[in-house]
Amino acid sequence: AHVWQGVINEYRDRLPVTESTDVVTMGEGGTPLIRARALSELTGCTVWLKFEGMNPTGSFKDRGMTMAITKAKEEGAEAVVCASTGNTSASAAAYAKQAGLTCAVLVPEGRIAMGKLSQAVAHGADIIQVDGNFDNCLEVARKLAESYPVFLVNSVNPYRIEGQKTAAFEVVDTLGDAPDLHVLPVGNAGNITAYWKGYQEYARPWTAPSGEELPAVSTRLPVMWGFQAEGAAPLVLGHPVTEPDTIATAIRIGNPASWDSAVAAREESGGLIGAVSDDEILTAHRWLSAKEGVFVEPGSAAGVAGVLQKHAAGELAAGQTVVITVTGHGLKDPQWAIKAAEREDPSLVEPRRVPFDVVSVADAL
Ligand code: F0G
Repeated sequence: AHVWQGVINEYRDRLPVTESTDVVTMGEGGTPLIRARALSELTGCTVWLKFEGMNPTGSFKDRGMTMAITKAKEEGAEAVVCASTGNTSASAAAYAKQAGLTCAVLVPEGRIAMGKLSQAVAHGADIIQVDGNFDNCLEVARKLAESYPVFLVNSVNPYRIEGQKTAAFEVVDTLGDAPDLHVLPVGNAGNITAYWKGYQEYARPWTAPSGEELPAVSTRLPVMWGFQAEGAAPLVLGHPVTEPDTIATAIRIGNPASWDSAVAAREESGGLIGAVSDDEILTAHRWLSAKEGVFVEPGSAAGVAGVLQKHAAGELAAGQTVVITVTGHGLKDPQWAIKAAEREDPSLVEPRRVPFDVVSVADAL
């Protein structure tokens, strides 16, 4: 049996590493592509969920972080820094620890999911809370990396995008070709940039670092649909949002760093970037838990929210193969699972109490 070696070793031919590169990996990638039966039935499409919560630190960030930290180490860095709404910091903290580097994370005030903060704490990152939002944190992190000997591991670091593009490779490798439509949440816009890069590279011949010529793997490109939270939808509005607001804290971002490449992915693929309300996000989150058995954090459900919205509007043609990336694990921010269930039916969140005997349990059931 093949044992998965992490995205760098699995896709070595397509990444900027050499034989002497000391790869920092925790076996990230190789995540499940799960058949979404209820969504498929609803839409008349074949819908798949790329479940990125199955990465070592519970989000897709690990694909980029293995690459960024590997290169930081290779280039002699001793310290890394990132701004984060939570998942990047969890990933950076873990991979930096693996590599023996120190890690500083700049997080916005409040609004960081407890699961994510716990990870950064557990892995011993230097956690600095900045009086401001994610966009302010990123500005400071960039300036810090310009003036001090620290390596920036946000997705403005091109190695992050390189690592994250492997998710598109996996989709094609699993399905045998690119899907008709790829849907995902958009925050800082690194991931939509990475998927589009990956799909494009797989659709044309490729010269490996070794000089070997590889043929195209896929025969076509998907249409890309990205979804932002309504209160944090700069790419939809066409201008930055100074006070982004949404319960989906992961994507509470007003001025995405990869703005131009997100727009390019939209334009070149003939796709769209839309907005979904917090209510739609929670409905999609609930749908994933209650109908598909897939537990995600709210921001991760934005793609599914978009698909439900477009289906309801009659703008999702049936018969397509659709892949939706669900970006992070539900255990990152579990309070929303309780809240969403409670919203649907308060009795769902109250365990029934019974005496200690089998008949009482059987009766209760
Ligand atoms: N989903 C989750 C769970 C995220 O954590 C993020 C981004 C996104 C989607 C959006 O991806 O930024 O590439 O467009 N989280 C970053 C962080 C900002 O700091 O963890 P994107």
